[in-house]
Amino acid sequence: MQGLEKAGFSSGNSILVLGGAGGVGSLVVQLAKQVYGASKVAATASTGKLELLKSLGVDLAIDYTKENFEELPEKFDVVYDAVGQGDKAVKAVKEGGSVWS
Ligand SMILES: NC(=O)c1ccc[n+]([C@@H]2O[C@H](COP(=O)([O-])OP(=O)(O)OC[C@H]3O[C@@H](n4cnc5c(N)ncnc54)[C@H](OP(=O)(O)O)[C@@H]3O)[C@@H](O)[C@H]2O)c1
Repeated sequence: MQGLEKAGFSSGNSILVLGGAGGVGSLVVQLAKQVYGASKVAATASTGKLELLKSLGVDLAIDYTKENFEELPEKFDVVYDAVGQGDKAVKAVKEGGSVWS
């Protein structure tokens, strides 16, 4: 929650959570969706955890074993990096948005 606050995340913003199926990421996904009222929540995980992401409220579940999230045309207001991929994370954020890691 502190990360979301420091990133300036607010209602109506979109977010990409790197490592959305982990201990940190799964909480960030749920906070963003259910407490902050995110407009869209995307998250990365491996193939076997995509259904878990969806059950947590993720709108766009990205399989990091098959897709490079930083190459997607869609950009996000906030990228929350719970994996340690800062170099790639900056490529997925909108102009004026922020990355938290
Ligand atoms: N837990 C805490 O209280 C806490 C507090 C402060 C900081 N941290 C830090 O936050 C980070 C995450 O901790 P955690 O407790 O959430 O770890 P965790 O529960 O072990 O989760 C790590 C997640 O990262 C995913 N992952 C691995 N490589 C990935 C990749 N390339 N792209 C996307 N996802 C990937 C794994 O998914 P797959 O199994 O699908 O690969 C797994 O779900 C660590 O650096 C930790 O030191 C944790």
